[in-house]
Amino acid sequence: MQDEQASKATSRRWTRFLGIGAGVIAIAAALLFFSLPELKRAMYEPGGRDGWQQPVRVVDTLALAQGQRIADLGSGGGYFSFRFAGRIGERGVVYATDVDADMNELVMNDATERGLRNVATVLAALDDPRLPEPVDWFFTSNTYHHLDDRVAYFARVREKYLLPGGRVAIIDFKPEITKHSTDRGVIVEEMTAAGFELTGDHDWLERQWFGVFTPNPAER
Ligand SMILES: C[S@@+](CC[C@H](N)C(=O)[O-])C[C@H]1O[C@@H](n2cnc3c(N)ncnc32)[C@H](O)[C@@H]1O
Repeated sequence: MQDEQASKATSRRWTRFLGIGAGVIAIAAALLFFSLPELKRAMYEPGGRDGWQQPVRVVDTLALAQGQRIADLGSGGGYFSFRFAGRIGERGVVYATDVDADMNELVMNDATERGLRNVATVLAALDDPRLPEPVDWFFTSNTYHHLDDRVAYFARVREKYLLPGGRVAIIDFKPEITKHSTDRGVIVEEMTAAGFELTGDHDWLERQWFGVFTPNPAER
């Protein structure tokens, strides 16, 4: 009886060991074939994302015009940046801004390969997007929950980085989907404190909430 239990325990230990070993080998193999930024992009843009993300409907909702400037805060692998680039024409500009210099390099290389001259990358600071000029749209997807003092962040965006008539669009995961998320009520409360009004309340994405905010004229 004791022998049988000891043998089962040994077998469980081997199974766990082999499982961890297989995981380590899979990660090492992935790193051999793909760069770390490519792996990060695969994590940010998992297969099937287009289905739940509805990128065309999201971009249509912004109704971007030719020649407009748009910032994509926390642009990652450029999932939305490249889609914006197709809408704003040669005179427009997408500022793909991220704190991760490697992701910026990946985006810039892709932009060059695709012949997109209206995409520029910006190395953001944790508390500042560091845009070289104000924009018509300040967009951010799946990044809001990463920001620290969001009221101060967006108060700065309002004062420094929005053109007259400029707006902010925020997409973040719903808390019931993942812990990497922000509740709609929290976003609205913080953006109101930062001097914005909610002017677009889009709850048609299956996994995320999508809000559009306009500077509140009473706050000037
Ligand atoms: C989950 S990814 C989202 C990428 C992309 N927006 C998308 O929808 O696929 C979050 C990105 O935000 C960036 N990030 C985190 N904190 C940031 C900050 N304070 N300012 C700018 N980017 C930030 C990360 O480096 C990462 O690329």
